[in-house]
Amino acid sequence: MTTFATLKTRLPWIQTPLIANAPMSGVATSELATAVTRAGGLGQIGYLDDMHALSQELDSTRKELQNIMDTLPDPEQLPIGLGVIVFGSPVDAWMRLFAKYKPAVAWLSFAGTSEMKTWTESIRKVSPKTGIWVQLGSVQAAVDVALACHPDALVLQGSDAGGHGHQDGASIVSLIPETVDALRKLEIDISLIAAGGIMDGRATAAALTLGASGVVMGTRFLGAAESHVPQIYRDAIFSASDGGQSTARSRVFDEIWGPNFWPTTYDGRCLRNKFYEMYTRGKDIKSIRAWLSDTMNGSDGERLDVQDMGSLWAGTGVGMMNTLGNAADIVDSIREDTKRHLKHAASLY
Ligand SMILES: Cc1cc2nc3c(=O)[nH]c(=O)nc-3n(C[C@H](O)[C@H](O)[C@H](O)COP(=O)(O)O)c2cc1C
Repeated sequence: MTTFATLKTRLPWIQTPLIANAPMSGVATSELATAVTRAGGLGQIGYLDDMHALSQELDSTRKELQNIMDTLPDPEQLPIGLGVIVFGSPVDAWMRLFAKYKPAVAWLSFAGTSEMKTWTESIRKVSPKTGIWVQLGSVQAAVDVALACHPDALVLQGSDAGGHGHQDGASIVSLIPETVDALRKLEIDISLIAAGGIMDGRATAAALTLGASGVVMGTRFLGAAESHVPQIYRDAIFSASDGGQSTARSRVFDEIWGPNFWPTTYDGRCLRNKFYEMYTRGKDIKSIRAWLSDTMNGSDGERLDVQDMGSLWAGTGVGMMNTLGNAADIVDSIREDTKRHLKHAASLY
């Protein structure tokens, strides 16, 4: 069975248990990725559609992490993950980036199996040592991608996750063990990484017990000083509690801004807001857009909170975070906390 040791053969600098920041588009830039990798985790840079800006992020990451690169078996390899939102992305332009920077991990998300296969094969051609991690949110998608792409890891994204994900999802509590069983039946051995609702050592210990070899956190890192998050967004997240009540999954969080280009498999989890409430009460999207525009222009006198004026992506874990920290402290403390909880669990028997 694949374990942490399997992951470490490709990512020699990581410490156990593996903690990665999610490659959150626009939020996880070089600053966060560098800090997480330096702390012994897998730092990741999120998708940008501006290839020039992304190259600059990768250049500065390379400069910052040169001392770690010098210790790697392949000193050309950039010790981070690079996130790609696959649907609609130009393969050739991305392959030039993968060939030039050789990130340790290519994180692929949001596309069907055949597109994932094209991307996997293309990346392996231009950067054979880059590990392929595919994020998905159902047992069937995991099996299909495992059979077609033979990725190095499957990131199982549960329905608690912030940001986009499978509309018809389950939490990692059932998603991981069912996927473990399905893959085992087919004699497929692939590292599994857990994502969705993980905020601390307790959840990390639970994810490892469910069958994951490491964890990815997005929402938790919105509270890291190195993330690019506007202060008003951060304040709204720090004040939120009771994540199932204060966040919601819906396609309205994309639809509100115009035509929704996201494939219908996906919706997203954000802080609940006024336009979400209108949408669930059945108000049509055109009149919600008109109401939002009028209200934001101040013409109807109604007061809006920051989460009413945007789609503030966040997972159900929001209630467990209310202060700013730095990424290294987050990684270190969760790692140590996880070990404590695993020891405690073992001591019960
Ligand atoms: C603000 C934000 C932005 C995100 N952007 C991306 C993205 O660009 N690509 C991606 O694959 N996942 C993205 N995600 C989802 C994460 O990859 C991950 O599945 C999720 O954060 C895990 O759940 P958690 O937020 O409860 O930790 C995003 C999540 C958040 C909270």
